[in-house]
Formats: sequence, C-alpha cells, structure tokens
Amino acid sequence: MSSPAAPAAPKVREVVVNPPAGAPTRVRPDGLAKTLSRTLRWLYGAYEQAMRRVQMLPSRIRARRIVRKQGGKLRLCLGSGAAPIESWLNLDLDGRPDLRWDLRLPMPFPANSVDRIYSEHFIEHLNREDGAGLLRSCRRLLRADGIMRIATPDLPALVDAYRGDWREQDWLDWPGHEWIDSPAKMLNQCFHGWGHKFLYDAAELEAALRAAGFAEVRRCEIGESSQQELCGLETRLDSLLIFEAWGEKGAAG
Ligand SMILES: C[S@@+](CC[C@H](N)C(=O)[O-])C[C@H]1O[C@@H](n2cnc3c(N)ncnc32)[C@H](O)[C@@H]1O
Repeated sequence: MSSPAAPAAPKVREVVVNPPAGAPTRVRPDGLAKTLSRTLRWLYGAYEQAMRRVQMLPSRIRARRIVRKQGGKLRLCLGSGAAPIESWLNLDLDGRPDLRWDLRLPMPFPANSVDRIYSEHFIEHLNREDGAGLLRSCRRLLRADGIMRIATPDLPALVDAYRGDWREQDWLDWPGHEWIDSPAKMLNQCFHGWGHKFLYDAAELEAALRAAGFAEVRRCEIGESSQQELCGLETRLDSLLIFEAWGEKGAAG
C-alpha cells in the first residue's frame, strides 16, 4: 500500500515593494550612528596627522641641513631613547635625540640616502599600520647596499615565560615593577605596558619586512652580525627577536 501523499505546502505569494522613484531611502538609526562615528574618527585621525606634520616642520628643515652635510652615508638609530649610538643620527620623539621626529610619519630624508638603520625596542611602540609604514619608509631610504637591523621583544618567548618561569626576566627587578607578582600581570605588562601597541613573532615581523619591500630577511642572534658596525648593538637581554633586512624586491641584480 502506498503511503498517503504529503500535504501540499501552502503557496507563498512573493510581494516586491518598490519605493516610488525619488522617495528618500530610510537609514536605520544604528547605521547612521555607525557612519557618523566612523566619519568623526576619520576626521580626528586626519587632524592628528596634520598636527604631527606641522609640529615636525622645524625638524624637517634640520634634516635637510644634515643630509647636505653627510651626503649618502647616513646611519639612523630609530627610537634611540636612552640608548643612542655614537656617531649615528639618533631619532626619537622625546628626550634629546639628534633629530626629534615622530616616526609615525615618513622620515624626512631622500630615497637611497641611508647606509644603515638600527632600531631596538621601538617598533612594538607603534600600532601595526604605523609599524608597516615605518618599515616602508626605511626601505625607501636605504641605498641598494643598505641594511636595516631591528630588535624587539619576542612574543613566543614571553608566552613561554608566562607558562614557565615568568620571574626569569631582568626587567622585573627594575624600579616601578614591584607590583608584578603573577604571570598574568607580567604578560599584560608586556602587551600593554610602556606604551606597547603590537608585539611580533618571527613570522609576523618577517612578513612585515617583506611586505615593506625588503628582498632578503635573516634572523640574527643577539649582538651578532656579519656586518661589523651592526655587531654588539643590542642593549637589552629581552631583545630576542632580531632581523636584518636588505635588498629591494623587484630590483635588478
Ligand atoms: C623602549 S624605548 C627604547 C629606547 C632605546 N632604543 C632602548 O632600547 O633603550 C622606546 C622609544 O621609542 C620612542 N618613541 C615612541 N613612540 C615614538 C614615535 N612615534 N616616534 C619616535 N619615537 C617614539 C620613545 O620616546 C622611546 O624613547
């Protein structure tokens, strides 16, 4: 015996409503608020960027004089802070650097005018977009045989410390860090303390260097380099993620 036929599904009538031509489109209030807040954020970002540029005008003029004096043999130490390199040009936003410069802006030197660039414990103070901009600016300034060396905390090493012997870090003994008495406080300090914005692991930093246009990227040991002038520059024990980068992607030779 055949089973009874299933009842037919009720017919649904499709109704298409076309708003009359010229009728105002209705914007949902939450959509409007989002658009407004996005526009305001964009405007504020553009205003901040413009103010930074204005504040950097005297340094831009000074940079022109420095380039005229030094020719194409510039060596730059970025975010030099309390560890400037003697006879290099030290750039920082604070303190008493050779050139005060906000490194969120492209540096005020001509392309192919820089011989070496060094930076320790600085890139993690920029957000990911500003970090990418800085690396692009470095690539643009370096001569064909120029090299950049960059040292920064190593994210996996910090996660290992969190899971393991988190007390084994020299900076925990520095004044002002007594409140850090647990692995969670230690790791949060690394992510959010000292003005840190973005921490890198090797894959992330290598990808950022390559995306900036560097053709060659090599991980280095602390203090070691095939270039004599780049040896022994690290001043911190936790500068564990170190890369040297050179060459230009797509450049002939
Ligand atoms: C942790 S300190 C590192 C100083 C030094 N390289 C060292 O290893 O001791 C970070 C430095 O980055 C500088 N800095 C932070 N944001 C900056 C920016 N937007 N432009 C230039 N320098 C900046 C700070 O003023 C500070 O001197």
